[in-house]
Amino acid sequence: MREIRGKPLSLLIDEGSIRKRVRELAREIEKDFSHSEGEPVVVGLLKGAFIFVADLVREMDIAVVVDFLWVSSYGQSTESSGVIKVLKDLDTDVEGRWVLLVDDILDTGLTLKEIHTFLLRKKPAVLRTCVFLEKEGRKKVDFNPDYIGFKVPNKFLVGYGLDWGEMGRNLKGIYAVES
Ligand code: XMP
Repeated sequence: MREIRGKPLSLLIDEGSIRKRVRELAREIEKDFSHSEGEPVVVGLLKGAFIFVADLVREMDIAVVVDFLWVSSYGQSTESSGVIKVLKDLDTDVEGRWVLLVDDILDTGLTLKEIHTFLLRKKPAVLRTCVFLEKEGRKKVDFNPDYIGFKVPNKFLVGYGLDWGEMGRNLKGIYAVES
């Protein structure tokens, strides 16, 4: 059994299921974004979304621009506060463009809602949100992503970009850290 720092990991979503779901999401997004004037801008949130973004854009058969935003969330270590500090802003001017914001996981929704508001200030023509995972029963704000990969139980998860203290990001599946 795999483990991180002595804690066992149990497989929740395997590589094949991820690949299949990413392909489905790409088809859906591609169809919706085919109305975009100019190339849509895919905005990945660092660091967690880097693998999902890489897979998603390669499954999309339309020309896209890829950019990354890096924010830190103030608050206790286990829960975000929704107050964000921008560590790396976009390099692309997204005013008037179709933008897809991509994140790894929606937990309380506080961080993504704040980032969504931050991006809206840049006046994109369209702003949609895609999360790879959404934890069930955890949302604290009224924020609904347009595209969701998988709904997952309220467990701490690693793999496919998600980390526990920088460990586990490169695992090919999604694993729950068991105590
Ligand atoms: P909120 O609560 O604002 O937080 O939706 C979203 C961010 O919290 C991190 N997060 C996790 N990271 N495994 C992780 O590796 C998890 O199970 C997990 N739950 C939340 C993540 O950075 C996400 O963007």
